[in-house]
Amino acid sequence: MNHLVSHLPKRVSLFEVGPRDGLQNEKAAITVADKVKLINQLSQTGLTRIEAGSFVSPKWVPQMANSSQVFAAINRKNGTVYSALTPNGKGLQAALAAKVDEIAVFGAASETFSRKNINCSISESLERFAPVIKLATEHGLRVRGYVSCVMGCPYEGHIDVKSVANVSEQLVKLGCYEISLGDTIGCGTPEQVKRVVNEVSERVAIEALAIHCHDTYGQAIANIYAALQCGISTIDSSVAGLGGCPYAAGASGNVASEDVVYLLQGLGIECGVNLAGLIDAGNTISRTLGRQNQSKVARAMNKQ
Ligand code: HMG
Ligand code: MG
Repeated sequence: MNHLVSHLPKRVSLFEVGPRDGLQNEKAAITVADKVKLINQLSQTGLTRIEAGSFVSPKWVPQMANSSQVFAAINRKNGTVYSALTPNGKGLQAALAAKVDEIAVFGAASETFSRKNINCSISESLERFAPVIKLATEHGLRVRGYVSCVMGCPYEGHIDVKSVANVSEQLVKLGCYEISLGDTIGCGTPEQVKRVVNEVSERVAIEALAIHCHDTYGQAIANIYAALQCGISTIDSSVAGLGGCPYAAGASGNVASEDVVYLLQGLGIECGVNLAGLIDAGNTISRTLGRQNQSKVARAMNKQ
């Protein structure tokens, strides 16, 4: 057996963020019907974890303002977890009313990004998340924790790996079952991924870590491969490579889910997702948005 692939995970869980991270930055309004169609198509591909919306201030992120309507209209597939972002108590109440299956709080390893994104310092954000996580847990919801800017910050540049490890550890202590390490501006490279993952995994079990790569510098697939080599077995991705963060100017979409599935197939790693179905879903939403599918795998396979 090739020694390089011998310690890769046998199975990977894909966490689809297209309907949330993918669409949150779109300027033109996307109808509830188009979002619902996307989410329903995605759940038919075998994806079992879909971030379907976000209960944030509509003044901050107008595109997510119709998340309650989206949750009310989707066909919930048995066994599929439909989740949403909730930055505070108000978001959690809306998420509970919408009957989400799981929530996520989102912090950062950069002070400046934290202020720009959620209008508070890192320590204030943790104080704010504590009651949200507690109440969600009491309602039987699992809580995911995001940490942004783990490879670099659009405002501060370099970010100390210790800050990443600290925030990740705090979120776990508050009750998050999983930490998604976000390369918000897609600036990281594979050896850096290994340094960050190794540092964080000193304090958080590797099984509880996910990698969330934006592909601004074209490094996402290489970075995911590096994360897999470290033992990470949860990967965030966005169909058709949709996405960007409104508070990280210039950051491109997440790594395309189609490209991740193709990579996993090549490595012989199971993820339970049908690539053809995913490409269909990506083509449909790309047509709706009037743009080219950003997945290279989809573009190549569309020509066949
Ligand atoms: P604030 O202005 O400090 O909040 O914003 P506030 O509590 O003072 O409230 C201001 C107004 O917003 C009030 O309304 C509240 O009711 C309302 P007003 O009285 O002025 O009419 N409000 C809400 N409305 C609906 N839902 C809510 C809510 N909360 C307050 N939950 C706040 C603080 C956190 C609310 C704001 O900064 C915010 O919504 N930020 C969200 C930013 C965001 O969604 N960013 C993108 C997601 S993160 C991301 O993409 C990164 C990630 O993908 C990982 C990676 O790539 O790194 C996860
Ligand atoms: Mg993101």
